[in-house]
Amino acid sequence: MCGIFAYAGGKDAVSVLVDGLSSLEYRGYDSAGVFLPKSGAVKTVGAVDNLKKKLSQQPLEGTSGIAHLRWATHGEPTEINAHPHHDNNKEVWVVHNGIIENYKELREALKKHGCNFVSDTDTEVIAHLISYNLAKLNDFEKAVTKSLNELKGTYGLAVSWKKEPEKIIGARMGAPVVLGLGDGENFIASDTTPILRHTKNVIYLHDGEVAVITPSSHNIYNLNHDIINKQAEVIEWSAEQAQKSGYEHFMLKEIMEGPEVVRNTLRGRLIVDSGLAKLGGLESVKEKLKEIERIIIVGCGTAFYAGLIGEYMLEEYAGIPVEVEVGSEFRYRKPIINDKTILLAVSQSGETADTLEAIREAKRKGALTLGIVNTVGSTIARETDAGIYNHAGPEIGVASTKAFISQITALALFTLFLGRQRQMSLVTGKRIAEELLALPQKMEKVLSQKEAIKKIAEKYAGHKDFLYIGRKYNYPIAYEGALKLKEVSYAHAEGYGAGEMKHGPLAMIDENFPTMAISPQDSVYEKMASNIQEIKARKGPVIAIATEGDEEIKQLAQDVIYIPKALEMLTPVLTIIPLQLFAYYFAKARGCSIDRPRNLAKSVTVE
Ligand code: G6P
Repeated sequence: MCGIFAYAGGKDAVSVLVDGLSSLEYRGYDSAGVFLPKSGAVKTVGAVDNLKKKLSQQPLEGTSGIAHLRWATHGEPTEINAHPHHDNNKEVWVVHNGIIENYKELREALKKHGCNFVSDTDTEVIAHLISYNLAKLNDFEKAVTKSLNELKGTYGLAVSWKKEPEKIIGARMGAPVVLGLGDGENFIASDTTPILRHTKNVIYLHDGEVAVITPSSHNIYNLNHDIINKQAEVIEWSAEQAQKSGYEHFMLKEIMEGPEVVRNTLRGRLIVDSGLAKLGGLESVKEKLKEIERIIIVGCGTAFYAGLIGEYMLEEYAGIPVEVEVGSEFRYRKPIINDKTILLAVSQSGETADTLEAIREAKRKGALTLGIVNTVGSTIARETDAGIYNHAGPEIGVASTKAFISQITALALFTLFLGRQRQMSLVTGKRIAEELLALPQKMEKVLSQKEAIKKIAEKYAGHKDFLYIGRKYNYPIAYEGALKLKEVSYAHAEGYGAGEMKHGPLAMIDENFPTMAISPQDSVYEKMASNIQEIKARKGPVIAIATEGDEEIKQLAQDVIYIPKALEMLTPVLTIIPLQLFAYYFAKARGCSIDRPRNLAKSVTVE
């Protein structure tokens, strides 16, 4: 997830663009850059403030241009990888949000035509490709359209050409692009946030649409270059609401982004017919992974719970012994590690000090270190030997939601990858791949019940204590569900393995102590049903997360939230959604500071 913004008008383009980028900062903050066809480009590592400083020393002039905020996916967050990217002659410049899947092939082909690549990004191929087609067609619009037809993957982009400085071309395929129509000025952006301070008239592009703007005109085409007529809409949101796509909090926005996040984590990584996972970030250690005999997963908070789910997956499907440890404990033990051990660190930020220190300790002892990390170029991503990026986009809410879902997805990919290197059959591999691809639609079904979940949360808002119980794959979900409630509402919530209830927690249960029972119809369903009976017998109210069609559970629980049927190991991706929504609406009903809970920080860089 990056932010693009482009302007064609009569004002000072640098102020318009930089101002717009500031409002897009929630989309990324790895690097920022602008290009004005009349005077050149300025780029920096870091967020918009750094760009402002640099622009005060190297001012640019002009009334049109393109700008970008980067959330790194391909290539480290360095200045050379910062957008806008250009062709050999520095005439064609591009800003891009998305992932070009065939960039390697295009890059090799373009190199043969004399293109010199300077960055590690997938985006740079777009600039060279357009330039190559421009040389043949000598028509900016046609050259862009032809190039777009040659790209595979996702893009929301804007292109500027020095020879037609007033014209900017935008296009969309799988990543959002919106046009803003002003008076003597027009805009292209990733969303309405930077546009709303100038105009409320917008046109949302659909996939396969291309927009050409100048200060006084806008035209929209399809990929065959046929003109499309689209009406402008009037947006009533404030700029603040737009940053959150109209949601009141980032937490809710990020929960609702779940299906998209799973698609992004999976994109280009499954070969369904062969039942294989293709993980580019593990290519360099692929052979070594065949010999691995033990995996230690390390993480903190939510990432640790994702690791626990990974343990069940890896042991069941890859047949490798796994243990999971919180980062803050790992290095105070005397971990037994050899060169057949992997330490797998799971971290959204890639900066958590406890996780990082565990990696360093494991490295000293000779382990191969891997990461499942969301932030490209972060310390954990750099210090591990290889890894899998989540591609979940920036997570702003302190309570992790979409990153957790992406971590489970990445662990499932890793399980498939290692399993197929070992005894996992083609049939099982295919089944996992198909079930993974089916997840986003199932997640949408769960999310569509958000109003019903809100009502349940409001009903229980007066309660002070909660118990969350689950078994097997949903045992870690009990912990993560309870953690969400604690983090955002400050209520007392305990996660427990349902089988452990009788060894203590059952004593707390009475009519004022509700239990959230995560009980999909899986291999431990009967056992869960008995545990719920035990709670019911003590008059404890029960909210059950159950599988569609399970009518029996209604006899046991006061409230039931249904999830679609899924492969057992993937049910946590579905069962966590109602718990995230419950925590959100519960905290909202209690008037809590949801995106920034008291005493907590998003990235914990102290031990
Ligand atoms: C903090 C955050 C949590 C997160 C944990 C680990 O406690 O508030 O949401 O799960 O750190 O962070 P990491 O970036 O390593 O996933």
